[in-house]
Amino acid sequence: MTETGHACRIVVLISGSGSNLQAIIDACREERIPGTVVGVISNEPSAYGLTRALQANIVAVGLSHRDYDSRKTYDEALADLIETFSPDLIVLAGFMRILTPAFVKKYEGRLINIHPSLLPDYPGLNTHQRVLADRRASHGATVHFVTEDLDGGPIIIQGKTSIVPSDTEGTLAQKVHAVEHEIYPKAIAWFASGRLSLEGNQVMLDDGLLSDRGLT
Ligand code: GRF
Repeated sequence: MTETGHACRIVVLISGSGSNLQAIIDACREERIPGTVVGVISNEPSAYGLTRALQANIVAVGLSHRDYDSRKTYDEALADLIETFSPDLIVLAGFMRILTPAFVKKYEGRLINIHPSLLPDYPGLNTHQRVLADRRASHGATVHFVTEDLDGGPIIIQGKTSIVPSDTEGTLAQKVHAVEHEIYPKAIAWFASGRLSLEGNQVMLDDGLLSDRGLT
């Protein structure tokens, strides 16, 4: 339950396959998250994640960025569409677009993202490839609040996986996805139950600083 006592209304933004979306839908179904995915929006109308949403009887909308002439007009249309769902939380799950500062500001404290690396290491794209090139021993994923600092917002939870010599980009992608499917529903459950918030630039869990609790 949210602070106002209703089940958390979640809108998920995607661009692709939507395996994280699926993990979130499953967690809501199984009541591991006290909330409901009320809408899924993709900037790629052919994204498989939209099919996953429809199969789960969730409203799914393709809103192509190609139909807009600027980031500003796209993000305004996106926000207008999001508002129709009256969401408590906006979840970026493989949404491959940089959002404008105005959009980020509007949803500050209720906009979260998952990134396939142990931030602050490896922000940006091609993380598996870069981690392998650097011969790192471990890799993972990070859930964070979204701020104007790309991939730099306050961290909520991280999950690690070790790298073995036989790993390839493909095997690492699989391992990281498995980590993501664990940690994203967990972070969303904290938010949906009113336990998680962003205060200034700090993440609070149960009224205490999350960074003091060794969870990241
Ligand atoms: C995930 O690895 C996520 O970290 C990244 O994009 C990928 C999306 O995968 N931002 P999926 O569409 O949820 O399967």
